[in-house]
Amino acid sequence: MCEPLKMQIHTSINNLRAALQKREGVVFVPTMGNLHDGHISLTRQARAHGETVVASIFVNRLQFGPREDFDKYPRTFQADCEKLRAAGVDHLFAPTEADLYPEPQQYLVEPPEIQNLLEGQFRPGHFRGVATVVLKLFNIVQPQVAILGKKDYQQLIILRNMIRQLALPMVIVGGETVRAADGLALSSRNAYLTPDERAEAPRLHRQLTAIAAAVRGGSREFARLERDALTELDQHGWKTDYIAVRRQADLQAPSGGDEALVVLGAARLGQPRLIDNVEI
Ligand code: PAF
Repeated sequence: MCEPLKMQIHTSINNLRAALQKREGVVFVPTMGNLHDGHISLTRQARAHGETVVASIFVNRLQFGPREDFDKYPRTFQADCEKLRAAGVDHLFAPTEADLYPEPQQYLVEPPEIQNLLEGQFRPGHFRGVATVVLKLFNIVQPQVAILGKKDYQQLIILRNMIRQLALPMVIVGGETVRAADGLALSSRNAYLTPDERAEAPRLHRQLTAIAAAVRGGSREFARLERDALTELDQHGWKTDYIAVRRQADLQAPSGGDEALVVLGAARLGQPRLIDNVEI
């Protein structure tokens, strides 16, 4: 019987490039590690889009604010490798900071105004850091397709706009959010929840789902729906940053036309800050 091909692990840009030379159909799943079923579902979807599946693990300092959790972000490299191997990933790119940023990264990708909406109000500079590392990873891997989770909806839209405006020869596919049985979106940061917070955490998704149902049912009272959900969360111990119904295409407020909408929310429950969204 043939030995299944083993996943190759590369830390240097040159080694990865050499391994991918002349490969067709490269599909790329960038991650920051601490992988859960949501990531693994993205790597499985990747297989349907091409022959060579590449994943990356890199905790990108540039996208963390000075008071955010860069230092304590969970790093679980061995377990992640096993999961990616089992999911059939062909190549893992896992550079150190010195590999990816051998000199201070002074050329940065500055996304337009959309970076300052929603998440951007609470995480200034976050999307600059994301766009910079992702463009660099795309230049290194040169995929035909990249798969990014819809859970980070604003990130997905900003990166899609980036590759279109910079004419990168690739497409970005949005992977559906994977949820626990009670609706909580899987996220590496769920690990920070205490048992009580974990029991409370699905309320965010329930509120977003209720707004989506009301809008589907014909309601256009967006401000009231958003305010009611925010009050409900805050009454249950959350500190809600935003609940917002927006257009899927550009995350601007609905203009009243026949446009696809999404409801997005972000709120702190104790220490952890959770984000989620529901397409309408
Ligand atoms: O979504 C993430 O995990 C990160 O923002 C990404 C896209 C891997 C860039 O660091």
